[in-house]
Amino acid sequence: MEKKTLLTGDRPTGPLHLGHYFGSLQNRVVMQNDFETYIMVADVQALTDNFHQPEMVRENVLEVAMDNIAAGVDPKKSHLFIQSQIPQIAELTVFYSNLVTINTLKRNPTVKAEIAEKRELFGQDGESVTYGFLGYPVSQAADITVVRAHIVPVGEDQLPMIEQTREIVERFHRMYQCDIFPLPQAKLSNSPRIIGLDGSSKMSKSLNNAVFLKDNPETTIEKIKGAKTDSGTTIEFNPKERPEISNLVMIYALIHNQNPKDAASELKHNTYSEFKLKLAQDLNRHLMPFRAKRLELEAKPHYIKEILDMGRVKVLEKAEETMKLVREAMKINY
Ligand code: TRP
Repeated sequence: MEKKTLLTGDRPTGPLHLGHYFGSLQNRVVMQNDFETYIMVADVQALTDNFHQPEMVRENVLEVAMDNIAAGVDPKKSHLFIQSQIPQIAELTVFYSNLVTINTLKRNPTVKAEIAEKRELFGQDGESVTYGFLGYPVSQAADITVVRAHIVPVGEDQLPMIEQTREIVERFHRMYQCDIFPLPQAKLSNSPRIIGLDGSSKMSKSLNNAVFLKDNPETTIEKIKGAKTDSGTTIEFNPKERPEISNLVMIYALIHNQNPKDAASELKHNTYSEFKLKLAQDLNRHLMPFRAKRLELEAKPHYIKEILDMGRVKVLEKAEETMKLVREAMKINY
């Protein structure tokens, strides 16, 4: 039986962290065995809210590619590529923009939350939001459909994007009387969400509350030692009432393949500081193979560029196949 197609991606705005690792990297490493897998470094999307700092985006393209490979994305199984190198994505975005109303885009909850967070860029009440940022879900629909993906592994915050993509696919088929694309499905990972070391609702580079996979062991220890906890003294897993300590227990449980409640009861005789040190050391041990591979890759940027180039060639081929069908359906196959 022919393999189904999977596409997912990351914005290159910083090195990947523990949230990415448990949430999505581990997942794609397993799934690449069963799907025709495409992993995109979403530089064009990253530019929609970093248009003023293109060098930052550029620097992080290779970082994100290396993080993926070091985590086990295998270039023999997966096609790793850079979004901006596929002009067909931009072309599809233009065509899809006729099928989406501005009101729908304004209601997208993830985009709405991002606009509210980015006051400096988009104004106090989002009055300066750009056409590009408001429209990035349309571009994401193009990312997914350009390779005619069936399945899109993502975090929960991305569900509105997949829903938007499904709407576009259905409209496109109805409008142009064709059946080119599979109706893509989101695949949420089973792994629970990791919150920031400062207790804020997500781990993120911009909030400065993340352990990066590529951090060295000393930095990891410093960061975990400095993680926010409550004023309690006992270790338990109770995310509702005690989110910060529970988050650390969760990370511990994930690296030990344990149920977090069991981990907490095993750890309950430790003080917070004993537990933090143990967690940091175990995390360092767990990430040792990743970090060794990462250092190896950093020493050969040409190898990474070759992989991205092979990905580009493969995706261009598939994208042009898609565009032939699209242009025909839209009567612009002159
Ligand atoms: N929006 C995704 C994120 O912020 C990144 C992304 C871009 C993506 N294009 C995609 C994810 C296509 C899945 C499919 O994490």
